[in-house]
Amino acid sequence: MDTFVIQGGQRLQGKTRINGSKNAALPLTAAALLTDGPVTLRDVPDLADLKNMYRLLAELGCMRLTEPPAAEKGVLKLHTQNTTNSHARYEIVKTMRASICTLGPLVAKRGYAKVSMPGGCAIGDRPVDLHLRGLAALGAEITLTAGDITAKSPKGGLRGATIFLGGAFGSTVLGTANVMSAATLAKGVTIIESAACEPEIVDLANMLNAMGAKIKGQGSPRLIIEGVKELSGIDHTVIPDRIEAGTFLLAAAITNGDIVIDNCPMDGLLAVVDKLAAMGIHIQPVSSAPGIPPAVDPMRASVRVTCDRTIRPVEVTTQPHPGFPTDIQAQLMAVLTLADGNSVVTERIFPDRFMHVAELSRMGAKLYRQGATVIVSGVKKLIGAPVMASDLRASACLVLAGLAAEGTTHVHRVYHLDRGYEKMEDRLNALGAKIERVDDKDLPGSAQGGEG
Ligand code: EPZ
Repeated sequence: MDTFVIQGGQRLQGKTRINGSKNAALPLTAAALLTDGPVTLRDVPDLADLKNMYRLLAELGCMRLTEPPAAEKGVLKLHTQNTTNSHARYEIVKTMRASICTLGPLVAKRGYAKVSMPGGCAIGDRPVDLHLRGLAALGAEITLTAGDITAKSPKGGLRGATIFLGGAFGSTVLGTANVMSAATLAKGVTIIESAACEPEIVDLANMLNAMGAKIKGQGSPRLIIEGVKELSGIDHTVIPDRIEAGTFLLAAAITNGDIVIDNCPMDGLLAVVDKLAAMGIHIQPVSSAPGIPPAVDPMRASVRVTCDRTIRPVEVTTQPHPGFPTDIQAQLMAVLTLADGNSVVTERIFPDRFMHVAELSRMGAKLYRQGATVIVSGVKKLIGAPVMASDLRASACLVLAGLAAEGTTHVHRVYHLDRGYEKMEDRLNALGAKIERVDDKDLPGSAQGGEG
């Protein structure tokens, strides 16, 4: 396993570019199962989660037409060539729970799907009851046996329905992706009430419409889908990753840096930008090159990020989009540990998403958890220490803390980070950070011992 060895105290300066969105690319690749035509996706990030999705799709008969290094960077070409296997095995699903978003496309297109129940993970139980309720409303016969979900469509295929898809924690992102995708091929009209409004759902709906689907209301809590007979192939560019963008905005803030971010999905980050402004973090549109006016596409903007010397404390509560995203809660908390006063962080989506709290405390942060709320009492400085990553966004949080901490921080188990950030150490080092990726066995004092 790898560890990041981070020398803290470097101000980030320079320019970086945001990659295509992991959380858009995963349901977009699954949507390739809905068509007999070729699907080309562009600006696809090179991430562990996506590699696992490609393995799964290949087992389901949806093949990558070109593999790196032959494939053009960021370009993914998929084509379903064999539909005999519609079983998403536990061995793959356990590596990447977003495999669940193949369920809707498979049952809609092939009439049958068997997908292993995704387990829970470090941030919560991750139930899929809303996915199943939505697909059952479309007429799918759902059974659970030995950890596998089996979905069978009725003889005449799925039928449109009116579905309330909200749960105790609000809308479901991948549940909306599953039911919306399935509804595109159902007979008749489907209304999904309390649908997820995330930009990734909008991107999926836009791609499906370009494939011939008839979806209205994307970005709002009510989707109206008129079923069609079939969908064609497509060539689609993935939207930029708003969670990665938020992470880089916060990296600039925690190092009191001054960076320019290209391909920044500002229009999907308004709640984050609002909170950062209250903290004293300034984001201005800039042109991506001299003489070029600032970007006209608010989802692909170029912005400059600077920060007041003193970070102001804030109150933040995570919500479904357009509220403050749960996927940026941990990274924000890292910055708030150095604010000038007490902040309050409340997690409404995954109430246990606080694995980073104990690790930040090891670095000198003053954090007091009460259930789904953490009081962050700002300190003057963090001290570098060995810390353990537990999940994707907690690992990003610890990297940010290491960038600002005095001395050296070892972030262990950075494979969590590699699931959602492409070459994060290279990109931060290009902005002036000092991060070295080290194999654990080469760490001084490690069990196996290193040279010298
Ligand atoms: C997506 O997960 C994202 N993953 C998550 O990002 C993100 O945290 C989450 O949405 C919330 O925004 C991908 O898009 C691949 P949900 P998803 O269904 O769709 C409850 C990251 O760091 N719920 O929107 O699985 C659930 O327990 C990852 O990139 C049910 O109760 O999340 C949670 O409390 C982590 N029943 C809430 O809804 C269900 O059937 C939101 O979950 C489904 C969900």
